[in-house]
Amino acid sequence: MIKIAPSILSADFGRLGDEVRRLEKESADWVHVDVMDGVFVPNITIGPGVISAIRPYTTLPFDVHLMIVEPGRYIEQFAEAGADYITVHVEATDDIRDTIAKVHSLGKKAGLSLNPETPFEDLLPYLDDIDLLLIMTVHPGFGGQSFMSECVSKIAQAREYFDSTGSDAEIEVDGGINRRTAKVCVEAGATVLAAGSSLFKAASMEGEIEEWRKFTFPGDG
Ligand code: DX5
Ligand code: ZN
Repeated sequence: MIKIAPSILSADFGRLGDEVRRLEKESADWVHVDVMDGVFVPNITIGPGVISAIRPYTTLPFDVHLMIVEPGRYIEQFAEAGADYITVHVEATDDIRDTIAKVHSLGKKAGLSLNPETPFEDLLPYLDDIDLLLIMTVHPGFGGQSFMSECVSKIAQAREYFDSTGSDAEIEVDGGINRRTAKVCVEAGATVLAAGSSLFKAASMEGEIEEWRKFTFPGDG
């Protein structure tokens, strides 16, 4: 069963607690939280303080996507703030192995992400150690961008790799996901759909999520 992770980057930041609370009612599975430092990407969003402030508003897992340089410096703070999945970018540090180990040592699930221009092969040394692979389908930094279809082949490569090793790691896609592109990603093997603008702008988020749940990976029958 695929999981839907609305990105609160597209929520109303003035009422973030209520927006997060609403996601459970809209039948979302996870809350996708975009953390940007103005260095790894040209935008600044929220940090551990805001995450701990909104944590009491839901019991849904927090899927924290760190778009920050040298993320190893902040893993403890994000774990304490209430992250369940902590995802770092393969481009953000030379210390990926230690960073993943730090996430695991704190009892959290470790994710690894890659930018559109980064080849899938850069992930190979780490794929056996992660719980989630987050494939960017736009250049990270902003919501509302168009899906880059050239990234779909990486979803298929990841699916093939995890199937061959028997791993149950999640394959998440992020950026420009809407009803049309969600279908393409799930058919290529994605298991988690992160989406901001298309879900928060939908007339009914719940109705939109219901449509996305109908997509199945061919192997699921
Ligand atoms: C972009 C973020 C995304 C963003 C997606 O850097 O990682 O999670 O919120 O927004 P949409 O779905 O609008 O492309
Ligand atoms: Zn994201």
